[in-house]
Parts: sequence; C-alpha cells; structure tokens
Amino acid sequence: MFSVGARGVRRVVRSMVAATTTSTPRTATGVSAAAEVIKMDVSQPQSLKKALSVPNKLLMGPGPVNIPLRVHNAMMKPMLGHLHPEFTEIMDEVKEGLRYIFQTKANVVCCVSGTGHAGMEATMCNLIEPNDVILIAQNGIWGERAADMAHRHDGDVRVIEKPAGDVFSLHDLDSALSQHKPAILFMVQGESSTGALQPLEGVGSLCRKHGTLLAVDTVASLGGVPFYMDAWEIDVVYTGSQKVISAPPSMAPMAFNDRAMAKVHARKTPIRSFYTDITWLANYWGCDGLPRKYHHTGPVSSVYALREALSMMCEEGLESLWSRHRSCAQKLYDGLADLGLQLFVDDPAKRTPTVTTICVPNGVDWTKVTKYFMSKYRVEISGGLGPSAGKVWRVGLMGYNCTPENVDKVLSIMKEALANVSKLKSNL
Ligand SMILES: Cc1ncc(COP(=O)(O)O)c(C=O)c1O
Repeated sequence: MFSVGARGVRRVVRSMVAATTTSTPRTATGVSAAAEVIKMDVSQPQSLKKALSVPNKLLMGPGPVNIPLRVHNAMMKPMLGHLHPEFTEIMDEVKEGLRYIFQTKANVVCCVSGTGHAGMEATMCNLIEPNDVILIAQNGIWGERAADMAHRHDGDVRVIEKPAGDVFSLHDLDSALSQHKPAILFMVQGESSTGALQPLEGVGSLCRKHGTLLAVDTVASLGGVPFYMDAWEIDVVYTGSQKVISAPPSMAPMAFNDRAMAKVHARKTPIRSFYTDITWLANYWGCDGLPRKYHHTGPVSSVYALREALSMMCEEGLESLWSRHRSCAQKLYDGLADLGLQLFVDDPAKRTPTVTTICVPNGVDWTKVTKYFMSKYRVEISGGLGPSAGKVWRVGLMGYNCTPENVDKVLSIMKEALANVSKLKSNL
C-alpha cells in the first residue's frame, strides 16, 4: 500500500498486523494511524522514462552474433508455463536439434539456463568430486577459466600447457594421461582467445584407454566445424546459444553420455550446485523417463529462439554449415594477406574458422582500429583476450554472420581503418 503526499513523495505503510487489527484506529484513507511510514529514498529512474533505444550493429567479434529475423520473431510467440505440455514439446524438439548438432544419441541432452560459463560450471560441478584428478589442456583463457572452476570444486587440478595459438597432439595427451591418470580430461575445441582449433579425433579413445572421462568446450566452434560426440567418444560437451547457433545469449546446451552419467550416479558426495545439477536438469528436460518436476523456470522465450535457430541449422545441414564457415574463413585469410596482415595462428590446419586472430602490426594502436570500425560503420571486431590481449584483433565468422558479404565488409573497413590510423600516426 502507498499514498502520494502533497509534494509527490511516496510513503510506504508497513505493519501488516496493525492493518488487519480491527481495534486499531484508521485514517480516512484506511491507513492505520499506528502504521510505520517509510519515506522512499529511491524514486523512479529518469533513464527508464525514455523509450528503449538499441542501435543496429553488425557483430563481427567472437560473439554474440546478430540473430536472424525468424529467431527474433520466435521470441514474440505467446508466453507459456515452463511445464505446460506445449512447452515441453518444444523442449523435446530442441533436444532433437541438439542431438543433431552434437551428433549424439545420448539420453541426457539438455540446456543449462545461462551462458557458456554455465555449461562449464555444470561440467565441473557434476563431474568433479573432491580430490578427483582433473587434467586441463590449457592453451588460452578458456583452459584457465576451467582450471579456476575445477579448483573451486576441490578438484586435484593438473594442467598441461601449449603456447597460445598451438594445440595438443595425441602424443602430448597420451603422455599426460599416463603421467596424471586423471578422472577427467578437459579440452577446448575452439579457443576463441587465440583462434586455435583443437583436433579431437582419437582423444576419446585415448581417454578410454586410461579410464578418463573426456569433457569438451565447444562454445566458440560447434556448428562451424565438424564435431561428432559419439564417434569421437566424447563424454560431456557443452556450447553456447549466441555463437554459431545464432540465438540470443542465455542457453548453454549440453550432453552427458552414459559413462558421464555413471560417474554422476556413483558420486559419494552431493553435487554442490542445485541449479546446475545434471540429474535435475535431465529430469526437467525429460531425459530420465520420469515425470518432469519443477526445477527452475525455464527461460521460455529463449527456448523458442533456440528451437528456431536449431531448425534453421537443420534445414541448412551440418556439412553445408561447416563448408560455409571454412570458405568464408579462407576468403578472410586471403583478403587479410592482401592487406599485408599476418594471422596469429601460423598453421592453417590449427585455425578455427569461427574466430580469426589477426596480428596487430608493430606501431599500430589496435584500439584505434576497433574504434574506427565501430564509430564509422557500427561494426564490431574485438581485441585480444587473455594471452592474446593487445596482440591481435579477433574477427568472428559465426552462423548468421558468416557470409562472403560480411567478409568483404570487414576487409574493406580494415583497409580504410589501417590507412586512417597510419595517417593519424604520421600526423602526430
Ligand atoms: C570457448 C569459449 N568457452 C566459453 C565461453 C564463455 O561463454 P559465455 O561468455 O557465453 O559465458 C566462451 C565465450 O566466448 C568461449 O569462447
């Protein structure tokens, strides 16, 4: 209850007990005279009185990417309850789409409501029991993050490292697995901080030989490069909705195979996070054959968007998506070479087509270039991250934004920006 005073000041009336006691005298407005009046210190913000304003930008960084109109429109569909049968049917369609893009027949295919980090957190918190040895293959910021999370879950964290831009060979992994005998090996397929693409073929069977579970981050790569969860014997995978999938950031699709679920079910200690508990998520997503129970309120409109984005990926087909990403990336590499620019990842076989890292030439202030892109063209490209910070620009070619036209646009702005930035430099 509130009343508005002469000078427009709102007063809140507390004391429910007083308000419901019949013997307490009441004022003409029905407010108990004994009630405590609290003056609101925080008034409605001016900023929310103006209309929402969002500029149109072309997002050519490492994500999020622009989303197709069809995906936008999906979010305008009517709200449903998070356990309504019409909604759980849509969740089932999402699961089918995820099985296709992960190339898996695993039962437990679902989403954590959150971004890619939520998928990483869910992987760590479900798989790690205190003192479990977890081996992290670290060649960029995502391995660092994973190691940080694994420590928080009391894992016995071992790290094998490669320089930024490089990847791990089967030989590297085999000797590290023999040395550390980990319960879990964590790898990143597309290291978006460096632009490196980790080959995964053969890693799963090595892990099986050593009795290790293999968990893979595909946030920056899935849909843009081949990935076969079952054929490559990967036990846990997660991704993010806002990259190649081209839906808004908000969902972290993931899959746990039977080996991974067996470890979860054999835990001696409870999963430490209720929200990312895979047994609860599997139930909510209808993966365990039991009636769905309320776990959390699924982000209904985001699920619509994801469903529609997956439907578009299925229409195009994975092979076509992979070759579109490969050919656009090649066009970008060729154009950058024509501009005299070098790529951070030397070996073309080690580059992820989804995120290209371009070395900043000596004497060029990288921030001036990213600012030029944004201020003149409203196009985003980004700087480096973690080990590549200050050394590279990162250009994303993902999903909806991965087109030859966008490659041409980035190249022509880059040419102009470099000429401009150099002019600015020589004027100084
Ligand atoms: C490889 C990789 N893993 C994890 C993440 C974290 O995802 P999010 O920012 O959606 O939480 C990112 C984000 O760029 C990523 O590129």
